[in-house]
Amino acid sequence: MRDKSVPVRGVMADREMEMGPATLVKSLTHWRLNKGDDGIAWLIIDRAGESANSLSEEVMQELDILLADIAGLGVRGLVLRSAKPGGFVAGADIRDFRGVTDAAAVETRMRRAHEIVDRLASLRIPTVAVIHGHCLGGGLELALACRYRIAVDGAKLGFPEVLLGLHPGLGGTFRLTALIDPVEAMTMMLTGSSVHAAKARRLGLVDAVVEERHVASAVSAAISGSLKPARRNWTSAAYALAPVRRFVGKRMRAEAEKRAPERHYPAPHRLIALWEEHGSDKKAMQPAEIRSFSELLAGKTAQNLIRVFFLREALKGLGKGENLIKHVHVIGAGTMGGDIAAWCAARGLTVTLADLDRKALAKAVGRASSFYDKRLYSGIERRDALDRLVPDLGGDGVAEADIVIEAIAENPDVKRKVFASLAPRMKPAAILATNTSSIPLEILREGLPFPERLVGVHFFNPVTRMELVEVVAHDQASEATLARARAFCGRIDRLPAPVRSSPGFLVNRALTPYLVEAFVMIDEGIARETIDQAAVDFGMPMGPIELADQVGLDIGLHVAEMLKSALPDPMPAIPDWLRQMVERGELGRKTGKGLYDYDAKGKPVKKDAPAPDPDMADRLIIPMLNTCARLLREGVVADADTLDGAMIFATGFAPFRGGPIHYARDRGIADIVATCNRLEARHGARFRPDEGWQALAGEVPVQA
Ligand code: NAI
Repeated sequence: MRDKSVPVRGVMADREMEMGPATLVKSLTHWRLNKGDDGIAWLIIDRAGESANSLSEEVMQELDILLADIAGLGVRGLVLRSAKPGGFVAGADIRDFRGVTDAAAVETRMRRAHEIVDRLASLRIPTVAVIHGHCLGGGLELALACRYRIAVDGAKLGFPEVLLGLHPGLGGTFRLTALIDPVEAMTMMLTGSSVHAAKARRLGLVDAVVEERHVASAVSAAISGSLKPARRNWTSAAYALAPVRRFVGKRMRAEAEKRAPERHYPAPHRLIALWEEHGSDKKAMQPAEIRSFSELLAGKTAQNLIRVFFLREALKGLGKGENLIKHVHVIGAGTMGGDIAAWCAARGLTVTLADLDRKALAKAVGRASSFYDKRLYSGIERRDALDRLVPDLGGDGVAEADIVIEAIAENPDVKRKVFASLAPRMKPAAILATNTSSIPLEILREGLPFPERLVGVHFFNPVTRMELVEVVAHDQASEATLARARAFCGRIDRLPAPVRSSPGFLVNRALTPYLVEAFVMIDEGIARETIDQAAVDFGMPMGPIELADQVGLDIGLHVAEMLKSALPDPMPAIPDWLRQMVERGELGRKTGKGLYDYDAKGKPVKKDAPAPDPDMADRLIIPMLNTCARLLREGVVADADTLDGAMIFATGFAPFRGGPIHYARDRGIADIVATCNRLEARHGARFRPDEGWQALAGEVPVQA
């Protein structure tokens, strides 16, 4: 920590943001303390070397030093503000959370951090947090320790800890429930969703919302006592009674259990218990919060969800290259092409969308419009997105496009024919991308005058929800093309996973044996609901039967048949009844009938069925894990982290398990191999452990 202190006279020129005309009193590495002629001190957080503020141990220690200085300054008020343009404080530094295993050590550190925040909370002079941009997690906890909170228009406040398997740990649980309606407070913490400034004002979380130019006057009103603080809704006094909290807590618990079962995601349940038990007793709630937070942080779920956070960052990083793409031309306005076009236009790109079929174009634009109605914030955003999405029956957009994305029928001859007509019309530097889910790119590049500019960008259905895009290389793709395709994914907020061209690429190849095993189990007379429950109990977002219906049985069957014919992977026979269903047009959710029947809302009608037996989850998951080991061995994907990230962000693979390979390592490769052997003895060669486990395990013998 550098102490660059000693008074330096001068007016702060911190961009356009109001920090009060002030004399610099002290400057440490991450904070500056200024004193204005009006007797107000400004404590400015500006974390060194980072674009956003976060609370590391060093940041907290410096805050401690500066708070000790405040008393001697003789000021009449203190303002906390960030110098970063993006926001106040984004939360704790998640890097500090990685690899934590010792709950007791965390508890000691957290107690110390609480003392610092308590010191801020107990200052005698009025304290004001001025909040612009993001104010999340630990940032909001700092703000909550101030007497007033003034939000600048556009600020967003929230507690996203639950998404990392945690709950607030720096005083948030008791300060928020004491400040605003406790049920609203609990909802914020349990869902992890943040609130905009106006809602924060309505909730009483902030005392005023002002435009940047009015910050100084709002601050001076707060410090002179003329700003009316937000008042909490006094009906919430009822929650001072433990039986009332327990009554409400029961409902919260049931709701949480539906979305995040306690055995997989303990944090929401721990938070509810904290509030039920200590909701009216801040003194008791504080140590209980520290203990519970520390135990959660050192636990498996939080550590795995923190891992998922970094897996996302790593994939995001792959999409960070220079984006040269402004205009996208999509050809094929069906399920995928229509949604890819709508998504790109929503992310600010100009999009022309072509199809042979006028009706398909109209349908795609209609779908885009209802998506924008639901997902875009303002009318202007919706109008602009629709303006950017141009139906292009004649295909004129090809000549202007920086990337042409093909999403027509899954037929290599048709695709190649279309490529031949596109190629002479494309700009010399434009790239040609295909959304094929199964055709090797080596086949599609044949005859292309510029094979080096062909790349696979394999989106997942539904495009608007699935974050992952497989960026598929082939033997003649240039590195520049692949880099541009990755940067394109980054530009539209999708996560690129680089994979080699190989049947089914990564995700479909790993997923298919899991789906086909479920079909075999149906053949054995096991209820569909029981099979799905086994996967859900493992932590999948939905079971394989429901997933197959959602993907479409025609598509699933096509991929399974292609994989079976193209690869030596052991896979059971695909049942005839599945082919017959596809022939009858029973394709799953999209036709209202598939492996389940669907009600008017598109929900599967499920019957009561026996609970799954303990082996069932293994029977479904092991074929997927085995294939993942094979994919690594074959080099279809470069490393286990990319594989884990891809499976989580494309299929929702139980995030709290940290990805398939991480799960296998955590369970023990020897145990996975032994389970393969056991299942092989019972069900046949398709369960034989892949040789890939050997490399993953080092010395473990693969055959029993
Ligand atoms: P779709 O059948 O819904 O749409 C295809 C569209 O292409 C139709 O509107 C059709 O009129 C149009 N089309 C056909 N030939 C054309 C041509 N020569 N010129 C212009 N338009 C033409 O198909 P879907 O499901 O959108 O699939 C498209 C591609 O995306 C396929 O390669 C498929 O394998 C792949 N894919 C599909 C996924 C899915 O879940 N549906 C998931 C990931 C990839």
